[in-house]
Amino acid sequence: MSKADVLLGLQWGDEGKGKIVDVLTPKYDIIARFQGGPNAGHTLEFNGIKHVLHTIPSGIFHPTALNVVGNGVVIDPVIFKKEVDALTALGVDVNKKLVISKRAHLILPTHRLIDAASEAAKGKNKIGSTLKGIGPTYMDKTGRNGLRVGDIEGADFKEKYNNLVEKHKQLLAFYNFEYNLSELEPAWFAAIDELKKLTFIDTEHYINDSIKKGKKILAEGAQGSLLDIDFGSYPFVTSSNTICAGACNGLGIAPNRVGNVIGIFKAYCTRVGSGPFPTELHDEVGEKIRQNGREFGSTTGRPRRCGWLDIPALKYAIEINGVTELMMMKADVLSDFENIEVCTHYMHKGQKIDYLPYSIEPSDVTPVYETVKGWNTDLTKLTSKEALPKELIDYIKYIEKLVEVPISIVSIGPDRTQTIFMK
Ligand code: IMP
Repeated sequence: MSKADVLLGLQWGDEGKGKIVDVLTPKYDIIARFQGGPNAGHTLEFNGIKHVLHTIPSGIFHPTALNVVGNGVVIDPVIFKKEVDALTALGVDVNKKLVISKRAHLILPTHRLIDAASEAAKGKNKIGSTLKGIGPTYMDKTGRNGLRVGDIEGADFKEKYNNLVEKHKQLLAFYNFEYNLSELEPAWFAAIDELKKLTFIDTEHYINDSIKKGKKILAEGAQGSLLDIDFGSYPFVTSSNTICAGACNGLGIAPNRVGNVIGIFKAYCTRVGSGPFPTELHDEVGEKIRQNGREFGSTTGRPRRCGWLDIPALKYAIEINGVTELMMMKADVLSDFENIEVCTHYMHKGQKIDYLPYSIEPSDVTPVYETVKGWNTDLTKLTSKEALPKELIDYIKYIEKLVEVPISIVSIGPDRTQTIFMK
C-alpha cells in the first residue's frame, strides 16, 4: 500500500504551487485537487508559454498522470468550461485525463451575486474576496443546501436549482443588491451541458483503490495555510480547509494514508486581499519586490501586497500541516538586494515571542528582524545546486535551521526548467 503525498502553500497563497506540481507530476500517477475553486490561479510555464489553471489540477499537461477534481473543490461550470476549452485548443484531451467527484459542489450564478452583495455590504471591512462565489457556495455546503456535480445527472436537477435560487433571491433582497440573473443563467446551463461530457465518479473510491494498488498520488492544495478557514487570519480567509487535513476531507484520504507533506513558500511573503500581514512593506522595497516578482494576482490582476519572510508564520504553517519537506520559490526575485530582512520573532504584549499568536493585527504584533546578506547575482540561468551563490546557500541553511525542515527545491524563475534540486 502506498501513501498519498500532499503539496500545499504555507503562506497567503500564490506561493507557486502550480509550477511545482507541474515539475513533480512525472513522478506521480494521479494529481488530485482537494479544495478551493476558481479563486485559485495556478500558473505554470514551459516552452515559453504561460498557463493559468483555476480548477483543473496542475498535472494536466503531462501525458501520463490522471487528474482528479476532488469532493472538496467547488466548481463554477462557466469558468471550468473556459479552462477545458483552452486546454483542448492546446491539444490536451481533457476527458481522457480528468475525472470529477460527484460530491464536488457547484457554484451557481447566484453564489457569485451573493459574494458581491456581501462584500459590498461589508464596506471597509471587506475580505477582499476574488468574488468567484466561493464563500456562499461553501456556506450552502455546510448549511446542507448545496447542489453537487452528482445532482446534474438527476431528473430533478432543474427543480433543485430553482429551489436553491429562490433561497438566494431572498438573501439578495436582504442585501438590496441589484442584479440581472437572466443574463447569467444561459451561459451557466450551457456550461453544465459541457460539464456533463466529462467523467463524474466517486473519486474517494478511485483514490483509495489507487492507494491500495500502490499508485503514486499527489494531492494539490490551493490558496495557503494562512488563508485556512480555521487556522488562517480569520475572518480574512477563504472558506475551505487549505491545510493538510483538507486533503483528507477533500479527497477521502485517511490521515494514516498521508505520506510526504510538501510545503511551498516564497523567499519573501505576499498577500492579496484584506487582512493583517505583519511583515508587509509599504515602501519602495515592497514595490521593488512587487515589480521584480511580477506580484499581480493571476485570477484578479490585483497588485499583491509584499513583505519579508515571516518565520513565526512559516513555523506555524509547518506545524499545522506536518510539513516534511520545503520548497522555496522565487529566490530570483531577491537577486538584487544588498541585504535581506527576515522576521524571526514578534513583539507581542511587551514580550519577544517566536510563535504566531491569536491575533496578528498590527496593534498586537510588531515584527523583529534579522538582517541576512543578499546574493546580488542573477540566478535565473543557473542549472545546478553547485552553481548557487554562497549567500543564497547561507539563506537556505539559515531558514532550515530556524524551521527545522529541509528545503529540497529552490525555484529560480517561472519556467519548469528554472528549478534547482537540493538533494
Ligand atoms: P475568496 O476565497 O475568493 O472568498 O477570497 C478570500 C480571501 O482569500 C481574499 O483575501 C482573497 O484575495 C484570498 N484568496 C483566495 N484565493 C486565493 C488564491 O488562490 N491566492 C491568493 N489569495 C487568495
